[in-house]
Amino acid sequence: MGGAKNAAVAILPAALLADSPCMIDNLPYIDDVITLADILHEVGAKVTINKKGCVSIDGSTVTNHRAPSDMVKRMRASYYLLGVLLGKFGRAEIPLPGGCEIGARPIDQHIKGFEALGAKVEIEHGVVKARADRLIGNEIYLDVVSVGATINIMLAAVKAEGSTTIVNVAKEPHVVDVANFLNSMGANVKGAGTDTIRIKGVSELKGCEYTIIPDQIEAGTFMVAAAATNGDVVVANVIPKHLESITAKLLEMGVEVIEGDDYVRVKGVERPRRVNVKTLPYPGFPTDLQQPISVLCSIAKGTSIIHESLFDHRFRHLEELRRMGADIKVEDRVAIFEGVGSLTGAQVSATDLRAGAALIIAGLTAQGVTEVENIHFIDRGYECIEKKLARLGADIVRLEDGQTLLQAVSSNIAMIR
Ligand code: UD1
Repeated sequence: MGGAKNAAVAILPAALLADSPCMIDNLPYIDDVITLADILHEVGAKVTINKKGCVSIDGSTVTNHRAPSDMVKRMRASYYLLGVLLGKFGRAEIPLPGGCEIGARPIDQHIKGFEALGAKVEIEHGVVKARADRLIGNEIYLDVVSVGATINIMLAAVKAEGSTTIVNVAKEPHVVDVANFLNSMGANVKGAGTDTIRIKGVSELKGCEYTIIPDQIEAGTFMVAAAATNGDVVVANVIPKHLESITAKLLEMGVEVIEGDDYVRVKGVERPRRVNVKTLPYPGFPTDLQQPISVLCSIAKGTSIIHESLFDHRFRHLEELRRMGADIKVEDRVAIFEGVGSLTGAQVSATDLRAGAALIIAGLTAQGVTEVENIHFIDRGYECIEKKLARLGADIVRLEDGQTLLQAVSSNIAMIR
């Protein structure tokens, strides 16, 4: 599997905090990373691609505390420039970020954290403006467990004066990866991966060499694809511990999952058993895999229930699955699936990144041809998904007009790297 998208999109801007170049390896070649590299270049960083998946970023040349609005609006993670530029210059002006439309995505907790560190934050005409003469460490309690707020406050606090404690933080693997990266630059961040992060501010950070962790969500997506197609797939270059929640659900569904040191092997069954899933912050079941696993629920034996507890509008792909024959009722944030055994190919449209991945999996299991439109969403977070699937035997092509055409996949064993 490739490097973790949600770690990469925080680590790239975080590199600007150092006074000398950082070399970052195992970067996924996905649209969000490319957009972010362009944004970093626009604010004055020197971004050099050394080889595939490895860039060097020199933040010492950055002078601009404003990011360009058209690019920022293309992705959610551009909000990390707020923490970074505030930490670096005591000033940041960033348009409100874009990203997948999966419900209200406020940034009040990010702002609360910046204010606690002494910044004055205002939103004017859709631009977040943060300013501080000095950032001073403080104790911050997050009202919701937020990946973005946890990382953004860490980014602002690593160079603040004194100590910062952030309580009720997100524990996702990418939060830990960002903390490790900051520490490699000379920061003093402790507790990442637990409920409380403690940071002792340092006056300077230096460039470092760093390798990003494998992508837990990409791996989970391929695990579900293997299960949904009754395949036999080794998903290699993963950290199996990060996949425990998806592994647990697949096991409940009767799918065989064998863990190795750095791989998981998934062996599907003729028809998976029903399951209940509730999305939760890590180590709970990730909301980003809710859409992929909904395909398995659509074809499983019996009635499955998914409770999406993080985002309001993360069920928009279910309408597309219904067009493929799925029997799904939605009541608020709960979806009830009467498993139908098999889906039929149809023309469907990706409504966001993970919805797109789910529809590809649905196309792989369906009888007949499925066309997935709007695959630009998928390219934001998956590197060459069609090539990796084709290597497993999927009949999948990217059409010139930007659509994807799929046919059913047969049982296969292969290595995905
Ligand atoms: C990140 C991930 C996204 C993933 C999500 C949850 C990135 C770039 N994106 O998104 O792929 O689906 O975590 O794992 O890493 N909230 C507030 N106020 C805030 C911030 C968040 O109320 O200031 C709420 C959100 O509306 C949501 C919940 O907290 O209900 C979790 O959101 P958060 O973890 O912040 O998600 P993102 O960082 O946007």
